[in-house]
Amino acid sequence: MIKALVFDAYGTLFDVHSVGKECNKIFPTKGDAISQSWRKKQLEYFFLRQLIQRYKPFNEITKDALHYACKENGVELSNEDEEHLMEAYLKLDLFEEVEAVLDQLSNKKLVVFSNGSKNMIDPLIEQSSIRSSIDLVISADEIKQYKPTPAAYNHAQEQLNLKREEILFMSSNPWDITGAKSFGFRTAWINRKELVSEELDIQPDAIYGDLSEISEWVEET
Ligand code: LAC
Repeated sequence: MIKALVFDAYGTLFDVHSVGKECNKIFPTKGDAISQSWRKKQLEYFFLRQLIQRYKPFNEITKDALHYACKENGVELSNEDEEHLMEAYLKLDLFEEVEAVLDQLSNKKLVVFSNGSKNMIDPLIEQSSIRSSIDLVISADEIKQYKPTPAAYNHAQEQLNLKREEILFMSSNPWDITGAKSFGFRTAWINRKELVSEELDIQPDAIYGDLSEISEWVEET
C-alpha cells in the first residue's frame, strides 16, 4: 500500500523552462535557447560532479550552467542579470494541474524530493500555491549525493521511515525514474514531453502525461 507520494521538483512540479520568459526579457529572441542550454548543462554538471566526486550544491551548479548557456548563445551575462535570473529560478511556474491534484490528495503524505539545495527548493515551494499541501521537503544536498545515486533515494526512504514499496515516486525525468525504480520505489513517470521510452531493462510501474491520474494509486481511506 502506498503511504507516501514523493515528487521530483524541477520538471515535474515546476516548469524549469518558465524561466525562459525572464531570459527573453534580457536577451530578446535567445531566451528559449538559453533556457534549454541552461537545463541541459545543469543536469550534465551534477551527473559529472557525482561521477568524479566533486560535489557542489545545486544553486552553484545552476549558476555555473547559466554562465555556460549564455556563453554558448553568444551573450554577456552581467552580475545584475545573473542575480535576476537566479532569483527567477526561485519563482518557476507550477505546471497547470499540480495545485488541484495536490489539493485532492491532501489526506496523503505529500513529499518533495529534489536535487535542489535547500536554499533553492525551500523558497521555490514557499512562494508557490502548494506550500500548504507539502508535508516534507527532502534535498539531496542533505547528504551531498545527487539522484540518481542509490544513496540519494536511500536518504529519502530513511527520512520517510517507510518500506521502499510503500513509496510512490513521480518524476518527469527518465534518469530519475530509472534511479528510483532501480532502488526499489514504486514509480510513475510523468512524461510531460511525450518522450519515447528508454532502452533500459528498468521500466516505470506507470506512465502518465501529467499528474492528473496519480490518484488511482491511492486507496480511498
Ligand atoms: C530535481 C531535478 C534535478 O531533482 O529533477 O528536482
